[in-house]
Amino acid sequence: MKVTAVAPSNIALIKYWGRRDDKLVLPYNGSISVTLDKLLTKTTVEFSRDYKKDEIVINGERVTGEKLKRALNFINFIRRISGEESPVRVVSENNFPTAAGLASSASGFSALALACSNALDLNLSDREVSILARMSGSGSAARSLFGGFVEWHRGKRSDGSDSYAEQIANETHWKDFRILVSILTTLEKKISSADGMRYTVKTSPFYTGWLKTIKNDLRIVKSSIRKRDFTNLGKTSEHNCLKMHALMISTVPSLIYWMPSTLEVMHKVMELRRDGLECYFTIDAGPNVKVLCLKEDVKKIKKRLKELKSIKELVEARPGRGAYLSKKHLF
Ligand code: DP6
Repeated sequence: MKVTAVAPSNIALIKYWGRRDDKLVLPYNGSISVTLDKLLTKTTVEFSRDYKKDEIVINGERVTGEKLKRALNFINFIRRISGEESPVRVVSENNFPTAAGLASSASGFSALALACSNALDLNLSDREVSILARMSGSGSAARSLFGGFVEWHRGKRSDGSDSYAEQIANETHWKDFRILVSILTTLEKKISSADGMRYTVKTSPFYTGWLKTIKNDLRIVKSSIRKRDFTNLGKTSEHNCLKMHALMISTVPSLIYWMPSTLEVMHKVMELRRDGLECYFTIDAGPNVKVLCLKEDVKKIKKRLKELKSIKELVEARPGRGAYLSKKHLF
């Protein structure tokens, strides 16, 4: 059967960086994200004997090499669960640049997990699909299944059955929340998050210090979401992002995902705050900066950010819905 799923990207407010189990993709710490209404991946899958071999096409290009290996690893894992043996055709389209810290793997693997689990009639609950998406290797994909504000629980069990994502508040809970995604480069990052976090856990002298701060960050951000307390949410998220980048920078060999333009946007955000426009930045494993703000200030903030020549594109996003199935297939 042919199945199409659409999944959104998400931006972490409390970051996931480091795995206690590489195979099962179990994080050392819980994380919280906001699902975006704008950056989407649409994926159609069909398992059929009519195909001679597995084929994956993303944005019109046949996938090869490491990327193909990564996706097929996941598909083969789902095959083992379901007993399906026939070849698969996967066609996927992103409406945004891939792999520049815009969580394209999150939306991509979330769409793939949802589409495959339905194509193979696995009858999974939302929670189980999030566990399946987590196993893709892009842990953050587990969070893209849900809309609004989402927590991915660290879990305690060694089999990973309690490490799943769960909604904190849906996409209509905080209507004035805005995320401005500044696109500085569309170049793909050289070191994947999976490799990066492995090096960090092994070599950063600050990793245990980071873990000590997480419980408090999660608590503050969760209660700020519930109370719609933008100041506490923004301050805690921005600081959490800086702590993660301090880990990355102190990794051997060092992981510096920032570019000069990244720092330019960070300084601009601090300048805007000094001018009374409340906004905060957050950055994932890439150079692009996401600016958190409220609807009342969005026009002014956008105008000031656009003064920066290095920003190629500024996408205004809101908390969006989670992944869903669609009848509009890509082939
Ligand atoms: C820095 O392995 O989940 O974005 O890099 O998209 O494959 P991909 O994602 P993943 O690592 C995410 C790391 C992060 C923080 C976060 O999203 O929590």
